[in-house]
Amino acid sequence: MYRLVVKNLSKKFSIGCKKKDSTLARVISILSNKESKKKFQVLKNISFNVKEGEMLGIIGNNGSGKSTLLRTIAGIYKADKGTVEINGRVISVINLNAGLNMRLTMKDNIFLCSSLYGLSKKQTQHIFNKIILFAELEKYIDTKLYQFSSGMLARLSFSIAIFCTISSKANILILDEVFNGVDKDFKSKSKSKLLEIKKKGITILISTHNIYFVKKNSDRVIWIKNGKIKKEGQPDKIVTEYLQEKN
Ligand SMILES: Nc1ncnc2c1ncn2[C@@H]1O[C@H](COP(=O)(O)OP(=O)(O)OP(=O)(O)O)[C@@H](O)[C@H]1O
Ligand SMILES: [Mg+2]
Repeated sequence: MYRLVVKNLSKKFSIGCKKKDSTLARVISILSNKESKKKFQVLKNISFNVKEGEMLGIIGNNGSGKSTLLRTIAGIYKADKGTVEINGRVISVINLNAGLNMRLTMKDNIFLCSSLYGLSKKQTQHIFNKIILFAELEKYIDTKLYQFSSGMLARLSFSIAIFCTISSKANILILDEVFNGVDKDFKSKSKSKLLEIKKKGITILISTHNIYFVKKNSDRVIWIKNGKIKKEGQPDKIVTEYLQEKN
């Protein structure tokens, strides 16, 4: 059974500055050498499927379109062309701080974020301790998030997403660069946790520059280059070819 079917997905962005209305604004723009607004094709006819319980690794250089692809699948961006068919419930960690409010305490944020992921208060109460213990943040329950380091925020986001996925019986977990800024020990236990939830049949889409993780643990890899799928297939092969091209 396919949990995700992506067909001919294309997405453009406007980059540069808006056309200036007034003559003075236009003169300033010319003098300051600002480029005018242009359309930029970020995703070009992307098609792929992901099966139930499959872990798909998405690799590619900076700016190749990985996050845009995941955001479009998660419904944060609207595609210009193509379709995304999702069979099941999705939980996505796309921006590390997504759903978190820096002025609230960690406790309030766990309840807030879990409710955004569709959990009831009772369900959140049930996983609350698991979240803080896994994130190793039990000393910070009543601390406001603006006092957290970026690694602490990353631990919290990951931990909330994992336990909400399990508790809400979500079917698809989308992760974008979730290992950025976390230390080695946390990375390693997060990887084990991902493999554990994959065994439960949850489909995982993960974009990361940690290509050795992708090579070792994913079932299939998609290499995105300049907004297109350059190659798709067996992790060992695709990662090796990607590294060969980089070197
Ligand atoms: N909101 C936006 N508005 C305009 N352009 C954008 C926007 N988001 C991304 N882009 C552009 O789309 C291209 C792809 O960006 P994207 O973030 O998808 O790359 P990425 O593969 O995730 O890169 P990285 O490895 O650095 O995370 C880049 O050229 C970027 O400038
Ligand atoms: Mg990205």
